[in-house]
Amino acid sequence: MKAVRVPKKHAEEIRIYAEKIGAKDKSRLIVKKKEFVEIPILEEFVDFFKNYEIVEQKNPVYAKPKNVLQAFKKILPGDLLKFAPRRYKIIGDIILVKIQKEIETHKYEIGKVLLDLHPNCKSVWRDLGKEGMLRKPKVECIAGSGSETIHRENKCLFRLDVTKVMYSLGNQAERARMARIVRDKEIVVDMFAGIGYFSIPMAVHSNAEKIYSIEINPDAFHYLIENIKLNGVDNVVPILGDSLFAAPEKIADRVVMGHIRCHDFIKKAMLVLDGKGIIHYHESVPEPVIDRPIVRLRKNAELLNKNIKILEFRKIKNYSPGVYHVVVDAYVY
Ligand SMILES: C[S@@+](CC[C@H](N)C(=O)[O-])C[C@H]1O[C@@H](n2cnc3c(N)ncnc32)[C@H](O)[C@@H]1O
Repeated sequence: MKAVRVPKKHAEEIRIYAEKIGAKDKSRLIVKKKEFVEIPILEEFVDFFKNYEIVEQKNPVYAKPKNVLQAFKKILPGDLLKFAPRRYKIIGDIILVKIQKEIETHKYEIGKVLLDLHPNCKSVWRDLGKEGMLRKPKVECIAGSGSETIHRENKCLFRLDVTKVMYSLGNQAERARMARIVRDKEIVVDMFAGIGYFSIPMAVHSNAEKIYSIEINPDAFHYLIENIKLNGVDNVVPILGDSLFAAPEKIADRVVMGHIRCHDFIKKAMLVLDGKGIIHYHESVPEPVIDRPIVRLRKNAELLNKNIKILEFRKIKNYSPGVYHVVVDAYVY
C-alpha cells in the first residue's frame, strides 16, 4: 500500500495532481504525520512521483470499507461474510463487481447494497470475466438499469457499454504514460484500439501528427468513433478491420500493441514502422517465463533482419496469480 510523503505545504498541490492523473487510491484516506502528509496512491503510479518520497503504509486508514462491510453484514449470514466483495469498480455511473459463487444466491441484495452506497450510480453489474481475442465482457445486471455510460479519466471521456466492451481500471497508469510519451508530429498506429483506450489519451495530450486506430469489433469501433467526437480530437483515423491486414505499413514512428495476447502480430508491427521506431508490446506472462515477451520481440526482429533495443519493461498489473500483464517498449531499427 503505497503513499507519497510530502511536506504539508506541498500536500494540496500533490493531491490535486494525484487526482488529476487518477493515481490517488480512493479507498484510503490522506494521513497527517507531524510536518508531513501521506497521500495514498495506486501501486502502478509510483513512477509518476519520482521527486517525492514513497512510503509503504503498514496501517492504512481506509475510507469506505467499514461502511461497505457494515452494509454487507446486514444481508450476508456470518459464515458467508468472508466472501463479501472487498473491491468493485466504478466506471462512469456504473458499478462492476465480482461475486464469488459461495454467495451468488445473494447477488441481488449485494447489488442493492452497492447501489444504496453510491446514489450517483445507476446500475450494478456482476463481472463474470472476459472472452476471447475481442475481450468481450461477460456481465449480468444485479441492480438498477442501464449499461451505457461516460467514464472520465485524465481529462479524457470514454463512452462505452459495459455489456459490449471492457474497461480495465488497472491499465489506467499505462494509459496516462502513453499520453505523455508521444512526441510532437509523430505518426502512431494503435493496432488494438478498442474504444480508444490509448488513442484518445494520446490524441488529447500529445501533438501527434496522426494516430491510426485499428479495431476489429464493430461494437468497440462504434464507441471509438463516438469517443473521437466526444473528445473533439481531429488527428485520430479510425479503421475497422483486422490489424494484421488493415494496419498501414512503413508509416509509423510508434506502434501500440495493447492486447495481452498479440505475439502473432509482432512481425506486422515491425512492418508498420517507417523503417525504425518504437513498439509498445503488451503480453500476459507467467513469472517463470517473464523474459518471453523480449525473446519474442528479438526473434521477430531477427527474421526481418532488424535490431532491437529494450527501452523499458514494465509490470502493468497482476493478471492472475503468478501471471503479469507487462509492456515492453522496444526500439526497432
Ligand atoms: C480490449 S483492448 C485491450 C485493453 C486495453 N489495453 C486497455 O487499456 O484497456 C483490445 C482490443 O483489441 C481488439 N482486437 C482483437 N483482435 C484484433 C485484431 N486482429 N485487429 C484489431 N483489433 C483487434 C479487441 O476487439 C479489443 O477491442
